[in-house]
Amino acid sequence: MTDPLLRYRQEFPILEKTTYLISNSLGAMPRGVFDALHDYAGVWAARGVRAWEEYWWTLPLEIGNQIGELMNAPMNSVAIHGNVTQCQAVVASCFDFSDERNKVVYTDLDFPSVMYFWEAQRQCGARVHMVKTDDGIEVPTERLFDAIDETTLLVPVSHVIFRSSYINDAKAICEKAHRVGAHVILDTFQSLGSGVPVDVRELNVDFACGGLMKWLCGGPGAAYLYVRPDLARALAPKFTGWLAHENPFGFETGATRYAHGAYRFINGTPNIPALYAALPGLKILGELDMLQVREKSQRLTARIVSLAEQRGWHVNAPRNPARRGGTVAVNMPKAKAVCAELLKRDILVDWRPGGGVRMSPHFYNKDEEIDFAMAAADEILRTMQ
Ligand SMILES: Cc1ncc(COP(=O)(O)O)c(C=O)c1O
Repeated sequence: MTDPLLRYRQEFPILEKTTYLISNSLGAMPRGVFDALHDYAGVWAARGVRAWEEYWWTLPLEIGNQIGELMNAPMNSVAIHGNVTQCQAVVASCFDFSDERNKVVYTDLDFPSVMYFWEAQRQCGARVHMVKTDDGIEVPTERLFDAIDETTLLVPVSHVIFRSSYINDAKAICEKAHRVGAHVILDTFQSLGSGVPVDVRELNVDFACGGLMKWLCGGPGAAYLYVRPDLARALAPKFTGWLAHENPFGFETGATRYAHGAYRFINGTPNIPALYAALPGLKILGELDMLQVREKSQRLTARIVSLAEQRGWHVNAPRNPARRGGTVAVNMPKAKAVCAELLKRDILVDWRPGGGVRMSPHFYNKDEEIDFAMAAADEILRTMQ
């Protein structure tokens, strides 16, 4: 049976020359990005400053709405930023850490940049609690729930853990947080676009953020921040700027008057070239049947797990496919050196301390590419000095 998703392979030039298994880090570049960046230069060259009013000003909203569709967010509820850390900072700036409800709960498996940001918020009065996990793979949900108490203000946690690909029970986390009056900031960088379902309305999540450069094939420099609309109206980010003003071109002096909708959470001038570069990937992702993408991701990651187990290599990912995202980290002996050699052979993967060689097939990969990469790793190990 032919895989219908393989028709997209021709849209990604790098797939012709490499075995591309690293979409959890940087998604393959869609061919359309050449034209998109050419358009950007053309508009800048020909329209100059008029580009703002003709297109650039509304581009963040257009992109936010396209991302919103992928996560079932209402129109005009997704703001665009440069990276996830900035998104976290915008959210943090909406809250006050000086009263009794000032606890921030996250886990030791969350992404370090997010971790570093929240740890630094101790300087603003935040009481930061890191939930320790046991095996480097799963988040013990009960332990996380125990930490979320009546003094908890924010719970910034990953939907899918970058290190192990474990899928957190986001719905249950939101329910627990809401029962005690806390808000969840869900990092969906490793879930949205990978096939793992993300439905912000169904989750009833307060905030969701992620970048475009991995599973959304959008390139570096752009990230999204969803804010639940009923909550958004009550928030006044302190990390703000002129795009968040109700009348930015009024250049009013003094305190801001916040805009409604997505712009309320933007601050300064957006990264326009990064937004152009993101358009072709989002167009393709918007066409895909995410159920198909998820099914394929589960099939290919199961293949990695099984081939690794056959060789006796340690797998740092959940065995249960329902709890596993799009990546499998395989810790074979000398994994770092194996990774370096795989890269030399144009088999693109990466290596992370404590994880091993990470492989993340996407909708554009062939089943055979998994076999090829695993056989190459095997051969490298056998012939290594
Ligand atoms: C789950 C997760 N969050 C955040 C990041 C990165 O954050 P930022 O966009 O601030 O660089 C990554 C990886 O790059 C990630 O995997």
